[in-house]
Amino acid sequence: MKVEIDRRDGLTAAADAVVSLVFERSEKDDTFPHALAREDEATKGLVRAAWDKKEIRGKPKELTVFHRPDGRGRLVLIGVGPRSKYDPEALRRAIASVVRGLRGKGVRTLAVRLPSVVVEPVTSESAIRAITDGAVLGVYEFVKYKTKTEGNVEETSIHLGDEFAREEAALKKALAEQSSIDDTVVWTRDIGNLPADTATPERLAEEARALGKEFGLKVTVFDEKKLAEMHCGGLLAVGGGSTHPPRMILLEYPGGSKRGKTIAVVGKGITFDSGGISIKPSASMAHMKFDKSGAVAVLGILRAAATLKVPPRVIGVLCAAENLPSGSAYRPGDIVRTYSGKTIEVLNTDAEGRVVLSDGLSYVTQQYKPDEVIDLATLTGAEVVALGDNTAGLVSTDERLAQGLLAASAVTGEPIWRMPLTDYHRELVKSDVGDVRNSTEIPPAGMLTAAAFLETFVGTTPWAHLDIAGPAYTSLTTYKYQPSYQNLGMTAFGVRLITRYLLDSARA
Ligand code: BES
Ligand code: ZN
Ligand code: ZN
Repeated sequence: MKVEIDRRDGLTAAADAVVSLVFERSEKDDTFPHALAREDEATKGLVRAAWDKKEIRGKPKELTVFHRPDGRGRLVLIGVGPRSKYDPEALRRAIASVVRGLRGKGVRTLAVRLPSVVVEPVTSESAIRAITDGAVLGVYEFVKYKTKTEGNVEETSIHLGDEFAREEAALKKALAEQSSIDDTVVWTRDIGNLPADTATPERLAEEARALGKEFGLKVTVFDEKKLAEMHCGGLLAVGGGSTHPPRMILLEYPGGSKRGKTIAVVGKGITFDSGGISIKPSASMAHMKFDKSGAVAVLGILRAAATLKVPPRVIGVLCAAENLPSGSAYRPGDIVRTYSGKTIEVLNTDAEGRVVLSDGLSYVTQQYKPDEVIDLATLTGAEVVALGDNTAGLVSTDERLAQGLLAASAVTGEPIWRMPLTDYHRELVKSDVGDVRNSTEIPPAGMLTAAAFLETFVGTTPWAHLDIAGPAYTSLTTYKYQPSYQNLGMTAFGVRLITRYLLDSARA
């Protein structure tokens, strides 16, 4: 998807379709909206007629297509919901619904008129970013294994009109930045959607090496031999049951400014989570190729950091392993010695994410002494139960870091919700035979006991944990409840969020 700025008027320029927003009709004021006067003119009264017949209600995802009598292609109306709730996220969703709704309908170019979407509180810049997100992410589908696909919108032009012509330079800059971020999201989704037979830990290492080569990043891969020398018992235990051995993968982006912070980003990279010896029931296993989403997001974050030259130095760590049962698999009852020297009593081999992260978190905090460490992990089913499949759980020991992430989330529209970490949770992960246990005796607060476990391995480094088990991917059943920019499969949740955080971190 190409997104570009165009000075011409959107209704007279020659796109295959031009789109306008419709706010939800209210009973109080149901008169034909002023804002659609030009659209009505362009369709010689068809819009008005459809309005009068109540065919247009302005509900989110409602798409109405008119063929213009003047032969200038189509005019498309998209519902955005109530005027009082309009914001960049509503616009992002609307544009995504348009490009998805037009799939297979022979529309190659789409025009959006900026003056028609810049309605309080949406500014010209936030509109440009939201349109770009909506168009690029909404059109995305994972097509690598499809032999046939339907035609998609390939180009979106944002028409400034006289009103915004003066801002052209600034808006072009915002567009360039946002489309670069969104290109990386697409790149990330393409890796995250690869099935587990292909996306092995070594394949993730290859992707990291290729990225390093392209952007001049230092990449280090620790294979199973090296991991053994380093006493990374967590990764080795979890990866022990698979013929695809585990990897710890490091990427270093040097930072755009000399005296900037160092921020470490650590991802859970379970290329397939069968549960291991504590095997999952089949239904729960169906989507476990997405258990690498945190690690794949880290690849994306490093790519975006390097492309946009964000101010801080960024260290990416992928903890990659495949969790399978076999004669060489780790078992419940095993006691594992991790890189940090601390030991883990394994009570459930399905609580493997925290076990691999223990090595990555302690390695990066000890070796790089980062100012902050952020981890992303599809860590617990409890997260999905607590917050649903669109919101990530945030646990943080650092107020500034937490507030920074919440601020970034408000901009990108990736919802996160902060949860408390208390001594109650810390108590539950203490082990009788080792330092920590990977599964608690009683089930409450599974997301938070998992966080308490991770906390053991970050020491005093300011830390934020994002449990992305819910929003990391969309399945056939959850997809219809999601905004249209969330495709089926991996969403790359966290890439836009953390990139925004890194871009803004120098300002804080
Ligand atoms: N990868 C799963 C968590 C998960 C569940 C991610 C659903 C995405 C959707 C994780 O490794 C896991 O199995 N966690 C267990 C932990 C338990 C055994 C303590 C869980 O949440 O049930
Ligand atoms: Zn598991
Ligand atoms: Zn898992």
